[in-house]
Amino acid sequence: MCGIVGYIGTKRQAYPILIKGLKRLEYRGYDSAGIALINGNDDLNVYKAKGKVADLESFCAEKNIEGSVGIAHTRWATHGEPSSTNAHPHYSESKNLAIIHNGIIENYAEIKKNLMDKGIKFVSDTDTEVLVQLIEYIQERKNLDLLTAVQVALHQVIGAYAIAILDKRHPDTVIAARKQSPLVVGIGDDEFFLGSDASPIIEYTDQVVYLEDGNIAVMKLGEELKVVNILNEELSPEIKTVDINLGQIEKGGYPHFMLKEIFEQPECLKNCMRGRINVEQDHVTLSALIDYRSWLLNAKRVIIVACGTSWHAGLIGKQLIETFCKIPVDVEYASEFRYRNPVVTKEDVVIALSQSGETADTLAAVELAKEKGAFIYGICNAIGSSIPRATNTGTYIHVGPEIGVASTKAFTGQVSVLTMFAIALADAKGTIKHGEYVKVVQELASIPEKITEVLKTNEQVADLARTFTYAHNFLYLGRGFSFPVALEGALKLKEISYIHAEGYPAAEMKHGPIALIDSDMPVVVIATHNAMYEKVRSNIQEIKARQGRVIALVSKGDEAIAKIADAVIELPDTMECLEPLVSTIPLQLLAYHIAVCKGKDVDQPRNLAKSVTVE
Ligand code: AGP
Ligand code: GLU
Repeated sequence: MCGIVGYIGTKRQAYPILIKGLKRLEYRGYDSAGIALINGNDDLNVYKAKGKVADLESFCAEKNIEGSVGIAHTRWATHGEPSSTNAHPHYSESKNLAIIHNGIIENYAEIKKNLMDKGIKFVSDTDTEVLVQLIEYIQERKNLDLLTAVQVALHQVIGAYAIAILDKRHPDTVIAARKQSPLVVGIGDDEFFLGSDASPIIEYTDQVVYLEDGNIAVMKLGEELKVVNILNEELSPEIKTVDINLGQIEKGGYPHFMLKEIFEQPECLKNCMRGRINVEQDHVTLSALIDYRSWLLNAKRVIIVACGTSWHAGLIGKQLIETFCKIPVDVEYASEFRYRNPVVTKEDVVIALSQSGETADTLAAVELAKEKGAFIYGICNAIGSSIPRATNTGTYIHVGPEIGVASTKAFTGQVSVLTMFAIALADAKGTIKHGEYVKVVQELASIPEKITEVLKTNEQVADLARTFTYAHNFLYLGRGFSFPVALEGALKLKEISYIHAEGYPAAEMKHGPIALIDSDMPVVVIATHNAMYEKVRSNIQEIKARQGRVIALVSKGDEAIAKIADAVIELPDTMECLEPLVSTIPLQLLAYHIAVCKGKDVDQPRNLAKSVTVE
């Protein structure tokens, strides 16, 4: 969680770069923010405020913000409540050092006790302050330079971190280090930038180094970037060129990133399929399946590990892979998988699904599966992030940066890639008939147009949202491929409107949730024309018999359900296995409009963060 930004140069002021960078990273955490600047007199000033980056800006209005060297942080608290005291940067006791940190120092209590026994005073409740105090203690006691003190301190620390440190006695240097939390260094002309991702950097330079676990970067004016490890062995960082443009990370006229990202889906899915579905639309090519053909053909089982929305995409992936490839698939919450000593063999293929590519639990699940010898396939969005770098191979979903905390276009991107993966593998294995294979490819290629059609229901969904904003609970029902869509619809609503919502397989309703139904209870039912249609229609009758209020997603022209439901949203027809790609759209819009009606912060819902880099 939390966003890190840094700048060191001579030609520019650090403050505007840091504030703009924090705003770009605010999706990562937004309970408090702070900044440390070294000014021309070698003073190290730290300014912090509870709340958002805008609150920090107001706080800094009357302050001395001059200086060309600085670090900044937007926090998602793990240790200590959100407050200006617990916000980063944290000073060391002498105020010579300031640190920002993303992650958790697991043995902080023990280190803190030792330091307190030696008389060092702490001002915050954070684990982070322990690290800066430890570095200073080591530096002073052993009379070491900052880099060596950082190396010694990191040796004693257990946990995850991306850190950046300033020392006012050495205003020409910023030191940064990473272990399990992301960090990118931007290289300019005698200037360096630092970010949790590349978004605060790309306006100034496209030359970046993605730090690896165990890397410590020394950014010193007048010198090349130096990267060493904890043992001070010098490493040769690979400089990469980033190709994200600014338009991709700005709102482009939409009131919220989430709405922009919902509406971008047709274009994003075209990008996702470009170069993979050929122009004749009769063939899918995934390079990973060519390069690692025998591994994948011989897989005895697929295990999908993921969290949240990505886990829901995984449930759809299970149905796709089992249907077409006839390989058994387990879908696991990464957080459970990593701690229960799962049975994983060399004949398993583990698919790690993650938008950010940084989710700590998913990354740990990947490492565990790797140790057990499984082949690891990543399906991620953020280019160069940790999960793709930890896998054997994979496929990027290429939907562009997703900024809204509630995931939308990444979900449809993941489902599209899983569909391409399933049918391409099935074709290679001979478990799908050629006619059906071509039909799925062609239908998948037409999905962006179908989503464009569904997006035309936006106004209708906004009206519905006004009617149903009163509700305190929602039920979402679907069967087969639509069950994960029901789960995802419920998650979207919970996340951004704070209305309690549950997703269920429609037939499970009678085993319990039906007790909840009364005239106040809205039930969203995915009831399109497919093999389960009649059964789902009966479920709707059961809800209506108990005065529940039904919002049904139906196939175009369905009059039977229109007669009994309170509201229907019509969807274009598609193959059953591709329905999630269209039926999820109105559910994203419904959650969005209800949250807007309730006046909630759609892009940055309370307590959440975009990238969950802590356990
Ligand atoms: C989605 O709306 C959520 N904010 C969340 O569940 C998310 O999908 C989950 O944290 C996994 O993230 P990842 O895809 O980046 O790994
Ligand atoms: N553990 C640190 C804190 O609570 C950093 C949290 C984060 O990564 O946002 O302040």
